[in-house]
Amino acid sequence: MVTSNDAGLSVPDWPTSFGSLYKIPKLVGGVKFEHTHRMIGQGAGLLTIILAWWTWVVEKRRWMRILGLAALGTVIAQGVLGGLTVLFFLPPPVSSAHAALAQTFFCIAVAMALFTGRRWVEEQPRVEFDQRRPSLFTLTLLSIFVLYVQLILGAMFRHHGLSWWPHVVHAVLVSFVLAWTAVRALTVYPQIEAVRRPAVLMLSLVIAQLCLGFTAFLTRISWGRDAVQPELPMVLATVAHVAVGALLLATTVILAIQVWRHVPVAFEETLPEAQRDPSAA
Ligand code: HEM
Ligand code: HEM
Repeated sequence: MVTSNDAGLSVPDWPTSFGSLYKIPKLVGGVKFEHTHRMIGQGAGLLTIILAWWTWVVEKRRWMRILGLAALGTVIAQGVLGGLTVLFFLPPPVSSAHAALAQTFFCIAVAMALFTGRRWVEEQPRVEFDQRRPSLFTLTLLSIFVLYVQLILGAMFRHHGLSWWPHVVHAVLVSFVLAWTAVRALTVYPQIEAVRRPAVLMLSLVIAQLCLGFTAFLTRISWGRDAVQPELPMVLATVAHVAVGALLLATTVILAIQVWRHVPVAFEETLPEAQRDPSAA
């Protein structure tokens, strides 16, 4: 809402807001979005401090305690990037880094929810080794990678640092890689629910995201080019496109984690010549 409403510099100072660390300014015009965004950011930061501390105290899995700290580090860096983009008048690389780190933080939080869920903790995973190449796990990692590139290209356009076409052209590659991944998951492992569900969701979200992308394009670039101020259809379309983009990335991360758990990659063992069984020759 801050970016789509062009409200990024409505509050010109940081870490204070109009000179105060705690007073809530009059929430008018762009200040409504920018200051509310800071307050929600602070709330998210506070919750993350509790989350990291609680995880550190009660969690037995060491890597989960580290993940809690990673969430905390990410949210702190996110706040600092938010502040820096204000202090330097919204440079595209800093605003885009703020946009990309936001989704990284979201993915860490979602992964922590998955790892602490009852299913994850109680379930005995049914494991099937994946013999295919590229493996499904490789495909999920590739999906995450192309989604990040798409996120950065979209953010650079949204923050006036790049033209729109690299993002739109790259969307073709994203659609191809994600469709390949989903079709592989759904045709080879339809019986594994933990893999099937995120794969179906990912495919549905890609389709929705493409439709929203075209709507964002129409309202921002075709119709909204000469608009004197942000118009409601453009705000709704772009905000929905950014939000579904975040859901899509998080769903793909969950799919990758579930594939890693349920369908690990099978490695062929190659023994040195001397150790081979002579009777097999
Ligand atoms: C948990 C903390 C935070 C999260 C998760 C977060 C997330 C986000 C997201 C997702 C956007 C939209 C990016 C886009 O549209 O491309 C954004 C924009 C923005 N955020 Fe934050 N933010 C946080 C904290 C802060 C803080 C503390 C500030 C302090 C000033 C801040 C300032 C801004 C500004 C100015 C923009 C608009 C940038 C522009 O229009 O170029 N954010 N934030
Ligand atoms: C599956 C494919 C796609 C994904 C994952 C995706 C994702 C994103 C994300 C995450 C952003 C915002 C980045 C940020 O600042 O936080 C964005 C911006 C944008 N995307 Fe996409 N996108 C996709 C396809 C498309 C397509 C096909 C179009 C147009 C035909 C499109 C048009 C746009 C536009 C116009 C913006 C900027 C919105 C604005 O200016 O406020 N996207 N995209």
